[in-house]
Amino acid sequence: MKFELGEDYALQLDAEDPLAGYKDRFYHLPGKIYMDGNSLGLLSRDAEKSLLHILEEWKTLGIGGWSGGEIPWITYAEMLGAMESGIVGAEPEEIVVCGGTTINLHALVATFYQPDRRRKKILADEMNFPSDLYALAAQIRLRGGDPDEDLILVESRDGRIIEEDDIIDAMSDEVALILLPSVYYRSGQLLDMGRLTKEAAERGITIGFDCSHSVGVVPHHFDDWGVDFAFFCNYKYLNGGPGATGSIYVNRRHFGRTPGLAGWFGNDRSTMFDMDTRFDPAKDASAWQIGTTTMLSTAPLEGAIRMINEAGIEKIREKSLKITEYLMFLVDEILSDPPYSFSIGTPREPERRGGHVGVEHEDAWRVNEALKARGVIPDFRPPNVIRLAPIPLYISYSDVWRVVQHLKAVIDNGEHEKFSKERSVVT
Ligand SMILES: Cc1ncc(COP(=O)(O)O)c(C=O)c1O
Repeated sequence: MKFELGEDYALQLDAEDPLAGYKDRFYHLPGKIYMDGNSLGLLSRDAEKSLLHILEEWKTLGIGGWSGGEIPWITYAEMLGAMESGIVGAEPEEIVVCGGTTINLHALVATFYQPDRRRKKILADEMNFPSDLYALAAQIRLRGGDPDEDLILVESRDGRIIEEDDIIDAMSDEVALILLPSVYYRSGQLLDMGRLTKEAAERGITIGFDCSHSVGVVPHHFDDWGVDFAFFCNYKYLNGGPGATGSIYVNRRHFGRTPGLAGWFGNDRSTMFDMDTRFDPAKDASAWQIGTTTMLSTAPLEGAIRMINEAGIEKIREKSLKITEYLMFLVDEILSDPPYSFSIGTPREPERRGGHVGVEHEDAWRVNEALKARGVIPDFRPPNVIRLAPIPLYISYSDVWRVVQHLKAVIDNGEHEKFSKERSVVT
């Protein structure tokens, strides 16, 4: 794509943007440009409405909501899963909305990690989100293993990117399970999930993905790729609200397996209320639910997913690629030379990028603070990355233009130098 400099040009891109109309359906923070939707998506009127609807049902139906809600609450997790299935290339019964990201990792790995004498290692990588690595180590310990020996972490060659070739080279016949992210939380690199799944399958290794940083901004083809399982959070690009309920995908070839962490909500609905002492797992992905659907943490997602489906994930991806490329173009053109010295840590190839851009700077922490003081909300990830996420549904090209002008002004005026080098707890 070829871009030009200047605010008029940004406004022209906005005028041509087929998704521009969605911006007004979100609550924006007054006077701020919100570039952190890859951490926590903004509230939309649609999500607010579905939450209020469930509150109203609670108010008027009480416990009757479980069977008498407009969508009976007892099936809410499956219904929302079905609504999400199109954006990840799954069948409706392969997705269920339940638990939380790390909890769902535990539920899935407890099922799919079946170490034996020959194959007992889990293959992951050192750039994944730490919670996943903590959970994998815990799962290995639960099976009597030693994470120092049994958790193989593929290393990054440059401290940013993980090469698919290095992952494939590590797929030895000692590996029982592979767990990888789709998009890396720091660099924004998108892994080739189709290729990795094919290579794993050829070696008889089970493979799953944490798609928290890609679902809602990148189309997925879980079924076509043949992924064994996946999970993702719903509070980033899906805008389901802080700590929103997560999602699980289980490929239908695994239906009928007994979930490693069983609970009554995973029971077949037709026998659930028989209250039998024996677990009778559901015949699809809903078997991986554990306890009662957390209605109030799930309800905003209903409106949020409807909006994503209405906009269309392919159109969202199209804008995401264009607006992230535009952002990288502006950083290259305006901010790469001294005294600015910003650089891009995200791969340039469209097929290797998710929805955010990692902008690197040697004083990134303080620049990030100075940006916040100017009303831009980015986030910082150590050691030197400012993450900027131009969310397709609510960030405009002129927002991106202004963010880059703010970055320039921070350095021009030395505004970051006023801030302490000490980092705060939540970054
Ligand atoms: C890639 C990834 N995995 C896991 C988590 C942990 O999610 P949760 O706190 O919802 O368990 C996060 C949180 O941001 C994440 O980004």
